[in-house]
Amino acid sequence: MIELRDVGVTFPGAARPSLDGVNLSIAAGETVALAGPSGSGKTSLLRLLNALLLPTTGSVSVDGMDTRDDASLWEIRRRVGLVFQNPDDQIVSTTVERELAFGMENLGLDRDEMRSRVETLLPMLGLEQLRDRPPHRLSGGEKQRVAVAAVLAMRPRHLLLDEPTSLLDARGRADLWALLAELRSREERTVIHVTQFPEEIAYADRAVVLVEGRVVFDAPPRELFAAGSGADGWGLRPPPAMGLAGALRTAGRPLPEDILTMDELIEALAGGTQ
Ligand SMILES: Nc1ncnc2c1ncn2[C@@H]1O[C@H](COP(=O)(O)OP(=O)(O)O)[C@@H](O)[C@H]1O
Ligand SMILES: [Mg+2]
Repeated sequence: MIELRDVGVTFPGAARPSLDGVNLSIAAGETVALAGPSGSGKTSLLRLLNALLLPTTGSVSVDGMDTRDDASLWEIRRRVGLVFQNPDDQIVSTTVERELAFGMENLGLDRDEMRSRVETLLPMLGLEQLRDRPPHRLSGGEKQRVAVAAVLAMRPRHLLLDEPTSLLDARGRADLWALLAELRSREERTVIHVTQFPEEIAYADRAVVLVEGRVVFDAPPRELFAAGSGADGWGLRPPPAMGLAGALRTAGRPLPEDILTMDELIEALAGGTQ
């Protein structure tokens, strides 16, 4: 369980708070999409959750541990894995393989376990051919996949992803999102995913929108993309499947009004032809 109570963050010298009166409870295993315009406080919110940043006011706790409590710091960092917005800020090793091992070494895992996790993750993220390459020489999208793999290798109970697909192409985004969905179905893991992509928001259990440091929306994605929710004003367009379903309905195809994901659209279309 992750809890933020009346959280405010004001950076030194800033005229106004970057986060203001934020209250959020996120249950273990929940998948939350965190959206909002640039500068609305999304990255700051994630950094609060692994104690890289401490609240100026209010409190943040992870599984009952207060992030201000120095004695809990190691345990909080062990439980909360953060994939940085810019992979260059995260990557520290000289080869892709070593980058995946780095966090696991810090956790004190034994060699066999580390090797087995590396061998599973490299193909899952399409990194097998790159294992001996220096990560800083890879493309932005490749670096982003390395950064995700390195955090997944530690199997954090709470996984924080800060726009992890921003440098990937459409195919790479779909692959990564499918992988995350598969991992989620296998083990209970909280995922907080900062994203501006409506098709990614659509797959979450819950959508939280920040505007100027305040939570302005917190409900299932279906409600976010329903008419009159305000999503337009926050720069969030409906997911492609919703637009397609609308166009098909206009063309005379009877389809339910609440289609949000491609999977739902495909299912509805397949059902409709029988
Ligand atoms: N380390 C920092 N020092 C000063 N201001 C910061 C720092 N980090 C973020 N900010 C400011 O806080 C606000 C929110 O930033 P951020 O959390 O990065 O938003 P987002 O991730 O939604 O783009 C912005 O106005 C940003 O300039
Ligand atoms: Mg950010």
